Amino acid sequence: MDKKSITIQNLEAAFAGESMAHIKYRYFAKVARAAGDEETARHFEATADQEVQHAFGHLDLLYPKDKLTTARALELAIEGETYEYTEMYPKFRHLAVEEGNQAAVAEFDEQIAESKEHAEAFRAVLEKAAKRFAALAKVEEKHANAYKDVLDRVNAMMKKAA
Ligand SMILES: [Fe+2]
Ligand SMILES: [Fe+2]
Repeated sequence: MDKKSITIQNLEAAFAGESMAHIKYRYFAKVARAAGDEETARHFEATADQEVQHAFGHLDLLYPKDKLTTARALELAIEGETYEYTEMYPKFRHLAVEEGNQAAVAEFDEQIAESKEHAEAFRAVLEKAAKRFAALAKVEEKHANAYKDVLDRVNAMMKKAA
């Protein structure tokens, strides 16, 4: 495994921080709204929207658009969800059991089930997309062959004329 550059690591950390700020402000908005403070709730939501843009700025550098295909994005999503339900949450669950935190155990169980569902749904989308890519490649091949036929004919005609 090649070592990640410090700037890539910092971009990942900054992306995580902005993403957390986004969700935290959404949550704080919910709390403020429930307390009847609509103005503060809106302020949190407006700031949360800006944090999304900050996070996107980091993602532009982490996943350059010219390298990120839809298929690759689906693979990354499957990887992330699979990591959650096969490694991260089972480990967290185990430690929550040891600490006797039943609320956390129950929540982790829910998240395990949902991450698994997400991974499976993404995989289904990827498989469907792969079929579409294959069909598209066939059409491209047909076009390429048709062009090649024309080119061969033109070449043959030119040879005859020469
Ligand atoms: Fe920010
Ligand atoms: Fe998920």
